[in-house]
Amino acid sequence: MEKLIVKGGNRLVGTVKTSGAKNAVLPIIAASIMGVTPSHFDEVPMLEDVRTISEVLKSLGIKVESKEKNVLDIDSTTINSYEPPCELMRNMRASFFIMGPLLARMGKARIHMPGGCAIGARPVDIHLKGFEALGVVLKQEDGFIEATTPNGLKGATIYFDFPSVGATENVMMAAALAEGVTILENAAEEPEIVALANYLNKMGAKVRGAGTDVIRIEGVKELRGADYTIIPDRIEAGTYMIAAAMTGGDVIIDNVLPEHQKPLIAKLREAGAIVEEDIDKVRVIGTGSLKGVSVKTLPYPGFPTDMQAQIMAMMVVSEGNSRVTETVFENRFMHVAELNRMGAKITTADRSANIEGPAKLVGCDVRATDLRAGAAMILAGLVAEGETRIGDLFHIDRGYEDIVEKLRNLGADIERVDV
Ligand code: UD1
Repeated sequence: MEKLIVKGGNRLVGTVKTSGAKNAVLPIIAASIMGVTPSHFDEVPMLEDVRTISEVLKSLGIKVESKEKNVLDIDSTTINSYEPPCELMRNMRASFFIMGPLLARMGKARIHMPGGCAIGARPVDIHLKGFEALGVVLKQEDGFIEATTPNGLKGATIYFDFPSVGATENVMMAAALAEGVTILENAAEEPEIVALANYLNKMGAKVRGAGTDVIRIEGVKELRGADYTIIPDRIEAGTYMIAAAMTGGDVIIDNVLPEHQKPLIAKLREAGAIVEEDIDKVRVIGTGSLKGVSVKTLPYPGFPTDMQAQIMAMMVVSEGNSRVTETVFENRFMHVAELNRMGAKITTADRSANIEGPAKLVGCDVRATDLRAGAAMILAGLVAEGETRIGDLFHIDRGYEDIVEKLRNLGADIERVDV
């Protein structure tokens, strides 16, 4: 079994480059299914989730090849199946992104209900309602969804009950090849949705309004493959920004779009850190003492739920009381018990957490209970006394490229060991 061993106390100093965004690359890889010619991708983060979705595509007869690090070539001309094996689908919720592209390309799909991090129930009802509005007929049995399009895909106006990121992306992909115009209302506005729309448009799609809550998709007959460079991972960048603030460090985070980091930058400044913004860089200087802040997670442009665990780790060592309200997921406080094990003083009630700071953290054995919770454990370990040993690393591997090397380059004492 592998563990990360973090010895706390080092100030992080230097420059770290952000990798391509996990949450952008996964739907984009799924969208490449619809290309009648090959696609080429740069700045692809080499993550476990990327390997999983690549395996899903290969199981459909698609050629996926990575000739060098951070580069991926996908040739979907050889697609011959609409039925990926269920073990690949169960591993990762984002595998469900192939549903829209498969319906558009093959006219049907038979796939297992998705898995992924255990953060709440995470149903796919909004995706399915969207597909039905486009004319998809669904049958669910034994954990499988069988979807067919007896009359083809037809454009429709769809109002999402909640601005679900995945549903917006999945339905947008299917609508790109539907007959007529689809309007998505109360759509998610995340930068990763804009990235997907940009890739689809390079393929020949006609998507307008991505990044706002109304997206208009005029269906086209065919999509070609396209070359696309994956946007920077705002959550990975944000994690290093918090690491700099917490350790009283001075870190330049390179390959960041500061406008994607607005809510985090505001909270870091409110807590007392210095944040300098450049076109594609952010410098964070920790001033040595941080103040407690309050954060409420919301769909973009609100504070991202994917940064909630990491900012909570910062609150633990900040002066005074902090509060976190999680409105996006109903069960995303699993890191609380792990942080408390290290000496944090956090209490939760329903979807809120109160953090009494500053706590003196002491290293011990903890678990990465989900991807971002794992990042929070690393952050806590960086400032804890002694040694923090983090297990269940597969969660962290899903979303952080080269995290050990990147942190070591900044001066952290962290290593991955077999125990
Ligand atoms: C995506 C991100 C994830 C992030 C989340 C919210 C990817 C690969 N993952 O996940 O990192 O935490 O956005 O920013 O991009 N819901 C339903 N029914 C549905 C779909 C969603 O009830 O059909 C609920 C979910 O249970 C959750 C909330 O809506 O409570 C948000 O989910 P959604 O925005 O869909 O997140 P994901 O696309 O799964």
